[in-house]
Amino acid sequence: MKYLQSSQKTLLVIALSTFCFSVNAEVDVDAAKALAKENHCFTCHGVDKDKDGPAWNKIAAKFKADPKGEEKLLKHLSSGEKAKFPDGHEEAHAILKSDDPKATKNLVDWILSL
Ligand code: HEC
Repeated sequence: MKYLQSSQKTLLVIALSTFCFSVNAEVDVDAAKALAKENHCFTCHGVDKDKDGPAWNKIAAKFKADPKGEEKLLKHLSSGEKAKFPDGHEEAHAILKSDDPKATKNLVDWILSL
């Protein structure tokens, strides 16, 4: 009986920590912001404010429902595809520099969560 109880407790601890871990693993907001800052993304984007680039919550609204949204944004941030600016000129979009694909994905997932 005693053994069962302690093993049940162990299971509970494992279940809880797995749960917490997966919640944290979803999006690390601080890491996403730090990476965006390092890459000067906020020069042209606000979280909820248009600058030269559209506000990220607008981008989220546009791509959230798209099952390929994440893939499209990852491509956008790695390919330097043409970006249209408010004054009508076009230039290659900034490429996100990161040595960690997980950090890149984390930033995209954060943008999509806005
Ligand atoms: C020099 C200004 C500038 C910088 C710096 C910049 N962006 Fe952008 N971004 C734009 C513009 C302008 C658009 C709109 C492109 C369009 O609609 O053609 C855009 C669009 C986007 C989009 C939406 C793409 C789409 O397909 O609609 C995302 C996501 C994005 N930027 C993320 C980022 C991230 C992350 C960074 C930092 C690595 C960054 N941007 C840096 C100007 C910039």
